[in-house]
Amino acid sequence: MEVGGPPLHPGMRDAGHEIQQLRETLRRHEHLYYVLDRQEIDDAEYDILMRRLQTLEEEHPELSTPDSPTRRVGGKPREGFTKAPHSSRMLSLDNALNEGELTAFDQRVRELLGGAPFRYVAELKLDGLSLAVRYHGGRFARAVTRGDGLVGEDVTENARTIRSMPLRAAGESGDIEVRGETLLNRRAFERLNEERDRQELPRFANPRNAAAGSLRVLEPAVTASRRLDFYAYLLLEGGNPVHESHWESLAALDRMGFKVNPNRRLCMDLDELLAFCAEWDGRRDELPYEIDGVVAKVDSIAQQFALGYTAKAPRWAIAYKYAPKRAMTVVEDIGANVGRTGALTPVAHLRPVVVSGVTVSRATLHNEDEIARLGLAIGDTVVIERSGDVIPKVVRVEAQGADRREFRMPSVCPVCGGAVVRAEGEAASRCINTNCPARLKESVLHFASRGVMNIDGVGEALVDQLVDKGLVRSVADLYGLTVEQVGALDRMAEKSAANVIRNIDASRKATLPRLLSALGIRFVGARTAVFLAERFGSMDEIIAADPEALQQAEEVGPKVALSVREFFAEPANRELVERLRAAGLTFTYEIATRRGEGALRGMTFVLTGTLPTLSREEAARRIEAAGGKVSGSVSRKTRYVVAGEDAGSKLEKARSLGVEVIGEERLMEMLG
Ligand code: IVH
Repeated sequence: MEVGGPPLHPGMRDAGHEIQQLRETLRRHEHLYYVLDRQEIDDAEYDILMRRLQTLEEEHPELSTPDSPTRRVGGKPREGFTKAPHSSRMLSLDNALNEGELTAFDQRVRELLGGAPFRYVAELKLDGLSLAVRYHGGRFARAVTRGDGLVGEDVTENARTIRSMPLRAAGESGDIEVRGETLLNRRAFERLNEERDRQELPRFANPRNAAAGSLRVLEPAVTASRRLDFYAYLLLEGGNPVHESHWESLAALDRMGFKVNPNRRLCMDLDELLAFCAEWDGRRDELPYEIDGVVAKVDSIAQQFALGYTAKAPRWAIAYKYAPKRAMTVVEDIGANVGRTGALTPVAHLRPVVVSGVTVSRATLHNEDEIARLGLAIGDTVVIERSGDVIPKVVRVEAQGADRREFRMPSVCPVCGGAVVRAEGEAASRCINTNCPARLKESVLHFASRGVMNIDGVGEALVDQLVDKGLVRSVADLYGLTVEQVGALDRMAEKSAANVIRNIDASRKATLPRLLSALGIRFVGARTAVFLAERFGSMDEIIAADPEALQQAEEVGPKVALSVREFFAEPANRELVERLRAAGLTFTYEIATRRGEGALRGMTFVLTGTLPTLSREEAARRIEAAGGKVSGSVSRKTRYVVAGEDAGSKLEKARSLGVEVIGEERLMEMLG
């Protein structure tokens, strides 16, 4: 029973009942969403339930419990972390760096077990931080980092905010300990770094550092905002395994509501284990998080016991490490790319080298400070690293070149010859010519890109030609282009030219937040643009607002407000806005969208194929105007796939995931 203690007066008994029901419902939906990746209610409905529970708990503080879903938001900051001893040592694993070493491990196990048959459980080696989590009476009680293996840091309040961490172990009433890995998936990592760019804070180098930084902050609310994940891989009771086999333990953890990595396999012998390792080496880029190898564990707990431990690692497990995606090469030159804001990014031109199957000839160097930090000069031999689809980067200088040459940021723009200035306190040097073609090209590409104005067909090859031929001197010129002009460009068939023009036309209906983020105002990304549009309702109101008024929009602080003001104070930008107005772009934000009160609120749609009457842009615009979201790819979170003629893989994906497929007619009905 959740609510006990002294007798309750009647109103409280009802509240107690409702609180209990709400907690159960919220827990179920959290498990569905964060562990099983399924969604039964939309975000808005979830928020309503959560808010109701918060209200009740505020009214009845005596009924509050630490495992309530409301506690995920993160409590008070602390002074520092306290140390906490582990129930049994948190060991690390011995590594096998190649197949030979894995084979030698297998040989050793075979000998130590005296030839008895045995099996391996193969799991992915997640690249995060290990965490030991204790449950008392089945309830989340304490989370401790690995530390030195004997004593770690108590990060209970932070770990509580991890949504995939059950606050109750389902069907478990005893004291257990669950060990596993905390990590940040790539998407959350990228978002976090984008956010840090906006706040002008240093980026995290990789998801692992970001996860560590997020778990070890003194303010739990910060951890809560970082979207960490927790995967369980070990179940203990009194420091010992509970089941007869590790495979069973994993299934038990799964039943208790923990996230257990589904990419695991019971292997009958070394060959099967090697096959698993090879398979995931090839597929690791498909995963939404980073792995650095495979962990193989002898399945039988009795055999694990017989094998025992060395001073630092179990003899029954090994980490097969994938070759790091690093390589060594020579920096032949350093050039500078000019971005949309005019910022010059130094880029290393490398002697081409293959890194995990991809030939790399460029690596980003971020800015001059980074070059200084690396101590890099042209001609040096460097170690480069490629992770996921991120642009390769230089990790360190391995050896200085004999004729090394210091890099100097050009004092004139390599594209337009305009002046380059590095403002005081800024890391970036910028080309200050607002008409610089490189800046213009980047601006047009940003304007047209997916998630911004969504103008399909306006990619790098086309934009290069449009700018070089003088057809586009400002993004507003896009709206004056004709099929003939575009059709006359290289590699442009008439049909694709007509498509491009049609897509440009359709973008006039893009919502105000999209247009705002398309303008490329510093610090105004998609999210901030929505808040500005919601608060002010029209472009003109935003232009007229002073910095103080601008700060009334959600998440807009002095820095963003100032940037918005500066942007609109610039005559060239005002002229651009007026030209976009004249071209018929959307300058107001409909009330239904503003309030998010449309019929499709909280629902995500994916459009595929040709619809009978609506163009895809029109369908997207209508869905968004009714409060819905339109996404480019089908996932379990998709509510409906709207399919027309010649629908392809998205339709198949929808069917395989059991996502409901509807036609235009049904969509129109839903839109009323
Ligand atoms: S089992 C005694 N399983 O790898 C067994 N560890 O190098 C302890 N790791 O500290 C670990 N994925 O942080 C295990 N599926 C997995 C893992 C895993 C990642 C990490 C863990 C550990 C390190 C050892």
